[in-house]
Amino acid sequence: MRLEPTSPDDFLTLRRLFDEPSFHGWGAPGRVSDELIHAKYLGARLPDVECYLVLVDEEAVGLVQLHTTGGDDPGIDLILTPAAQGHGTGRRVVEAMIRRARERNIDRLTVDPDAGNEDGVRFWRAVGFQPRATVTDDVGREPSVLMTRDVEPAGNEAAGRSDALTPASHTSRRQGPAAPIGVDADGIANTGH
Ligand SMILES: CC(C)(COP(=O)(O)OP(=O)(O)OC[C@H]1O[C@@H](n2cnc3c(N)ncnc32)[C@H](O)[C@@H]1OP(=O)(O)O)[C@@H](O)C(=O)NCCC(=O)NCCS
Repeated sequence: MRLEPTSPDDFLTLRRLFDEPSFHGWGAPGRVSDELIHAKYLGARLPDVECYLVLVDEEAVGLVQLHTTGGDDPGIDLILTPAAQGHGTGRRVVEAMIRRARERNIDRLTVDPDAGNEDGVRFWRAVGFQPRATVTDDVGREPSVLMTRDVEPAGNEAAGRSDALTPASHTSRRQGPAAPIGVDADGIANTGH
């Protein structure tokens, strides 16, 4: 699994992902338009929103975002294609994003799955997020569950099940621009360069 920051060159890859029926309704009602892909998912909102393609065997199988502004704590959003689910990829992505959050001096992350997305809530619990509140007054959105997880100091990653992923070694880029985040088959993190 490898995370690659998106760029305008990735439009067709994003278009293909958002054409998956399972992506409809994620991030916006219905099928996401070309304009919205350009506006939200190709890097235009950096550094406030980092958007990464999730690559497995170099095939794009999902998207993950780290957003650091807005009214709430910094948070992540994640979606994988159905074929990519259930193989541990989601957990690896979360571990990589926890490392990225640590680099950006973020000490707590939020997620907000729809309350009706019980599988999503179970996943976030399994990777260390605790439910804090049910949000019912977000206009235009169905009720969601606000969940948080502390970003533990490096070497103290016991909140989720740790596969002893080595912390990424690119600390010199603290708060720098998003860069590829790689995790090889043995779970050893590298910078992808
Ligand atoms: C939620 C999602 C990101 C999980 O990714 P995944 O690769 O399928 O999850 P993993 O295989 O890494 O599972 C990680 C852990 O979560 C648990 N988990 C995942 N789905 C689960 C479910 N439906 N019920 C219970 N536990 C679940 C797994 O058991 C696993 O725990 P373990 O490692 O202790 O065995 C993915 O299924 C997805 O994209 N779903 C659609 C979009 C979505 O719901 N996004 C999240 C809400 S915003």
